[in-house]
Amino acid sequence: MKNYSKIEKNTLLLLLCLIFASCLTNVEEPEVELEPVDLCADITYSGNVKTIINSSCIQCHGSGGNFPNLTTYSGVSSNATIVKNAVVSGRMPQGGSLTQEQIKAIECWVDAGAPNN
Ligand code: HEC
Repeated sequence: MKNYSKIEKNTLLLLLCLIFASCLTNVEEPEVELEPVDLCADITYSGNVKTIINSSCIQCHGSGGNFPNLTTYSGVSSNATIVKNAVVSGRMPQGGSLTQEQIKAIECWVDAGAPNN
């Protein structure tokens, strides 16, 4: 009877150690570093910028409209810096607005050197 309770005590101690050890390994899990999200990944002229320009700028910056003419890639790319400044400052589109996502897309594209992609 005496021996039996000793075994039981040891078993209990072993169990407690196991539980404690499993807790220790669980604690490490949240420390896994999250990859920073790259908002500029996959932003292209044809896939993003052109669509934004066509829906929000072209009515005033088309052929014969206000400077700069934003109807073509070369029109947009040769004015990339002022286009970026105009949308980041919120000055353009005049009388309208862009979403933060759209502004970020234009900013990303201009910062990447306004590639024809
Ligand atoms: C409702 C008409 C209208 C819309 C829409 C519009 N613009 Fe303009 N934009 C103007 C006018 C008018 C000017 C010239 C006077 C001025 O600068 O306010 C101008 C000037 C500009 C200029 C040159 C001068 C400056 O302020 O830097 C840029 C660049 C520009 N717009 C970019 C854009 C972009 C990019 C969009 C779309 C996101 C856009 N505009 C939408 C009317 C518009």
